[in-house]
Amino acid sequence: MLSPKIESALNKQVELEAASSQYYLSMASWAETQGLNGAAQFLYKHSDEERTHMLKLLQFVNERGGHGIIPALKQPSAKFKSIQAIFEQILEHEIMVSEEINRLVDICLKDKDYTTHNFLQWYVSEQIEEEKLARQILDKLKLIGGEKGGLYLFDRDLQSFDTGGQEKK
Ligand code: FEO
Repeated sequence: MLSPKIESALNKQVELEAASSQYYLSMASWAETQGLNGAAQFLYKHSDEERTHMLKLLQFVNERGGHGIIPALKQPSAKFKSIQAIFEQILEHEIMVSEEINRLVDICLKDKDYTTHNFLQWYVSEQIEEEKLARQILDKLKLIGGEKGGLYLFDRDLQSFDTGGQEKK
């Protein structure tokens, strides 16, 4: 059974994952309007992933005798400066999500809720992958600089980039 404190903290995380999904969806839509179809596909997939993160948490809350709450969300920005700016924002956002997950883990330890602590380990590993992926993509963008031909190839490559952090063979 979840304590009210842990239930409320988990529901906050539900909201953060849902907001991440909306945020990346907005980035995907912007990229599509810029002709960056590879980046758009990557970001649509990433948005879907965040929704599964949200769902997993929501269902865990319900399974543990709590009530997963569907949050109201603020409209994310619709305009972005560049594809580089998007991935910088993703990295910054994921670092913040990692901090929130760590905070949750800490609350569970203090509350001696080892079941939720165990459940959250999946998120701890996932955050390592998410940050790594954003850094890898930013490194690629740095190599390209402002070069158009490079950006074209980068965009094409992103289509085959797995949002789980592995490049498909
Ligand atoms: Fe579900 Fe990107 O954190």
